[in-house]
Amino acid sequence: MGEKLVYINGEFYPATEAKISVFDRGFLFGDGVFEGIRVYDGKIFKLDEHLKRLYRSAHAVLIRISLTFDELRKAVIETVRKNNLKDAYIRLIVSRGIGDLGLDITKCKTPTIVIIADDISLFPKEIYEKGIEAITSSIRASYGDILPPQVKNLNYLSHILAKWEAINAGAHEAIMLTREGYVAEGTGESIFIIRDKCLITPPSWVRALEGITREAILEISWKIEEIEDIIEDIFTRYDLYVADECFLCGTAAEVIPVVKIDGRVIGDGKPGSITREIMKRFRERVVQEGVDVYK
Ligand SMILES: Cc1ncc(COP(=O)(O)O)c(C=O)c1O
Repeated sequence: MGEKLVYINGEFYPATEAKISVFDRGFLFGDGVFEGIRVYDGKIFKLDEHLKRLYRSAHAVLIRISLTFDELRKAVIETVRKNNLKDAYIRLIVSRGIGDLGLDITKCKTPTIVIIADDISLFPKEIYEKGIEAITSSIRASYGDILPPQVKNLNYLSHILAKWEAINAGAHEAIMLTREGYVAEGTGESIFIIRDKCLITPPSWVRALEGITREAILEISWKIEEIEDIIEDIFTRYDLYVADECFLCGTAAEVIPVVKIDGRVIGDGKPGSITREIMKRFRERVVQEGVDVYK
């Protein structure tokens, strides 16, 4: 197949010609919001949940998306269809659009809407069997008094630098803590630990994105007999170290076991039985549900 087609404001362009203005606020200030969405076997997983979160993010930062929910939904489906993709990763970006070099948002009249459908691979395939090594980052999770972490915005610099800390330390991923030392999330993933058959994840108010994969995992986990309890609660670095199992999850990463954190081996150093069961059920689920692109 030839070049991928990218949607920009209602038109499709070959990837190499898909360009936006240098005066776009997304480029100038990271002034925008986005979503990452996956397509499994021709079906877009949790499309409406992603769109709802995008509209919530945009509303919170005063970006008025110029398309209705339904129009944007159709544009996403059309982008996947035009590219003839069955398994893909969609990046949907809404920036505040073109303005001048100042900060005044009233000068930006029309948001820029971009939809890219491509592949993404955060970790090599083999590592899903073995599990990854993580560090806790020195960079703190973003604060509600600066920018609500629930707003999936284009400012990922702190997450990018946290990820770099992990790579620089020879690990795969970084876990971000709050100022108080509570575990918040990975750089692009929600986090779960398992202790004494109890599944624990931080509540999103702790400074984490309201992860859509996290929600799906919670739904799946209620049906796993081996899990005796599921709780959303704050926990610390210590709880990570002494967990029986730990995993990260997100649209791009999917479900990835964590077997070492800050040099401490988690459980027996291999992906645990509950994590493996969750991974299995998650894989089964994503190909079953979702919005069918080719129907
Ligand atoms: C900071 C952060 N936390 C968590 C997640 C996981 O969220 P989701 O499962 O909705 O992709 C992501 C990815 O989107 C993220 O960027």
